[in-house]
Amino acid sequence: MFETSRRKLLGALGVGGAATIAGCAADAPGTAGDQTPAVGGQQQTKQVDTDQLAADPTDVPEPIDRDEPTTHEVTLTVEEVTAEIEPGVTYDYLTFDGQIPGPMIRVHQGDTVELTLENPDGSQLPHNVDFHAIYGTGGGAVATTAAPGEANAMSFQARYPGAFIYHCAVPRLDYHISAGMFGMILVEPKDGLPEVDRELYFGQHELYTDTEAGEEGHHGHDPASMKAEDPNYVLLNGEKYAWAAANRGPVETTVGDTVRVFMVDGGPNLSSNFHPIGNVWNRAYRDGGLPEDGDMGSYADKNIQTMTVPPGSCMIGEMEMAVPERVKLVDHALSRVRHKGLLAEVDADGEEHEEVYDPDFDGTSHEGPRYE
Ligand code: CU
Ligand code: CU
Repeated sequence: MFETSRRKLLGALGVGGAATIAGCAADAPGTAGDQTPAVGGQQQTKQVDTDQLAADPTDVPEPIDRDEPTTHEVTLTVEEVTAEIEPGVTYDYLTFDGQIPGPMIRVHQGDTVELTLENPDGSQLPHNVDFHAIYGTGGGAVATTAAPGEANAMSFQARYPGAFIYHCAVPRLDYHISAGMFGMILVEPKDGLPEVDRELYFGQHELYTDTEAGEEGHHGHDPASMKAEDPNYVLLNGEKYAWAAANRGPVETTVGDTVRVFMVDGGPNLSSNFHPIGNVWNRAYRDGGLPEDGDMGSYADKNIQTMTVPPGSCMIGEMEMAVPERVKLVDHALSRVRHKGLLAEVDADGEEHEEVYDPDFDGTSHEGPRYE
């Protein structure tokens, strides 16, 4: 796809890549005049522990087809890992299972979860996990607090449906969440979710590093900019442009697909303004809220362009892939895309539908009145 003459021209201009927000050449990041001067104190890049920190957005548990409640044994394992934010820029992340966001957990309303948090011997810090899907002190944070070399467990019943964040909640919780310790649990309502063609999972969060974004080397954590809520990176899935052509590549879908996106905003401080460029959230579930009576159709918000997702919350949005296109998932506070690394892309491949969108319209070929 994207082989029409206009797209080739955009490519030749160097503005067809992931870094372009919406095909606007003037706003392509990394162009001359967009460079910030280096600051001092930079350290050598560290050796990385993982080549892939970014959770695969297609790694979503299967929908639930079951009438009786069950019990799930879930183990989350702390991994403190060094990885690249972008090529040549390393950072010491804190994660659940070595990925950002942490693994998506999917259960049914009424199910019981037996949750173990393992903090391996080699860790530097204590950790725990607080689920917003729990009735109980700290969402389980107190019960699961584990020093390095410890594991602690709790069990809970998922009594209300929705998409909920889980996150580390030790005393320096803003730092731990910023460094990657958050994920999502989806509690499906009794009748489940309507069937769709594709389900995707993303997590937004901010990094506060002590070096200018993009400057090569190892970046430390900067408590002052975190306190000021002024991050230098805002990311989907922990890496700059993680799932876009500029990095690991877009997610592939097909024209005609209904694509359901689960998004969790770890924060710790910024709300997301989550928008699919070139599409819309045809059905949207604010804050991940889901109805208990199974009436999804009348519950959903319809045709929402931009969903606000506060830190410590989630959203579920469904897009119809009506034409071949590359949808860019962005925080519409667009400086975060241009300057701070946030972007994911979803491609839809298939037949053109000129009546819906005709990118090659020559201005003369249609009968009838036109708007000048
Ligand atoms: Cu932690
Ligand atoms: Cu919380």
